[in-house]
Amino acid sequence: MTHETIASPLLTPARLGTHELANRLVVAPMTRTRAKRDGTPTPLMAEYYAQRATAGAIIAEAATPNAAGQTYPNITALHTDAHTDGWRQVTRAVRAAGGGPMFLQIQHGGRIGHPDTSGLTPMAPSPIPLPDPIHTPSGLQQAVTPREMTPDDIRQTIDDFARTARRAVEAGFAGVEVHSANGYLLHQFLAAGTNRRTDAYGGGIDNRIRFTTEVVAAVAAAIGAERTGLRVSPGKAVNGITETDTDDLYPALIEATGEDLAYLHIAFADPARPLFARLRGLRTGTLIANPVLPAERIPADGGREAAERLLDAGADLIALGRPFLANPDLVDRIRTGAPVNAVRAEYTMYTGGPTGYTDYPTLNPADR
Ligand SMILES: Cc1cc2nc3c(=O)[nH]c(=O)nc-3n(C[C@H](O)[C@H](O)[C@H](O)COP(=O)(O)O)c2cc1C
Repeated sequence: MTHETIASPLLTPARLGTHELANRLVVAPMTRTRAKRDGTPTPLMAEYYAQRATAGAIIAEAATPNAAGQTYPNITALHTDAHTDGWRQVTRAVRAAGGGPMFLQIQHGGRIGHPDTSGLTPMAPSPIPLPDPIHTPSGLQQAVTPREMTPDDIRQTIDDFARTARRAVEAGFAGVEVHSANGYLLHQFLAAGTNRRTDAYGGGIDNRIRFTTEVVAAVAAAIGAERTGLRVSPGKAVNGITETDTDDLYPALIEATGEDLAYLHIAFADPARPLFARLRGLRTGTLIANPVLPAERIPADGGREAAERLLDAGADLIALGRPFLANPDLVDRIRTGAPVNAVRAEYTMYTGGPTGYTDYPTLNPADR
């Protein structure tokens, strides 16, 4: 059955920094724990990303900038030559498949980490453990109390983000996304519940935004602001995060990180929240928004309606996670109105191997 073409603003060309995009759909960063044990990307990962090359742009999953920042077993990293070579194979495969620009997300776990995984005691703004159990090589375990970061740890971590950003460009990425969302290290500094510091990095908003601001500035100095993106998730109570001043915190952060970044990426963006309009207004450059889709299952339209609402509210590009996870050819499905694949059982998200990863079916050529 051939589907007709649907005219959607999502399918119009757009710009991201210096890049022309074929459409406004961006693959959201998704950790899939298919790297080697040491964090080196695998040929299977190259295949997975190349399958999704019709997206306007791809933000590759969280990569760790140093050993201490490792969150879970088999997540990716980018701080050795082997990591750089592995990622180069991924960006080459996407380019060979005709893909648009690819950014790499840099993530430090902070208190989300475990000595059994990284060999190190996790570090965080304050010695407050994650309230949830955490994945380790031997299964779920109680989180340990992280050690409070010293001024040297802070300087070193900022340098490591910058070094990893340089490696990302060497590996063929258009740029990087600094991960300041979802309860990982940078978010732990932003949120009052996880940051009880009494030095220049804790206390009032100006101090709590300092670490993210310095990481972004160091990355931008290393590879250029036009290659540097920033991801935030204002008010998202995930991974034990509690924010007390979301509506003041994020405008201050966005003002402090500057106008010239490649993009700002808002995860779980709700166009009905006044904060969304406020952040949009503060930022004249590219805004990527990731809509709030139902947690249980992705909608039958692949998130199209929610995505279009965000474009109406002023977003420039839309990042989708699970719809792209289950539909490598999501762009074709949105173009034709074809039904989307549902995400298969949760356990295939992080189990490793091709099942639930590279084996999601695409449309028959006649249906594209
Ligand atoms: C399997 C999986 C892995 C994810 N890994 C990351 C990640 O590495 N970095 C990140 O910022 N968000 C991560 N997320 C969150 C997604 O980027 C996205 O914000 C979330 O899935 C909501 O979008 P969706 O409803 O389109 O899936 C992940 C989500 C899923 C489902």
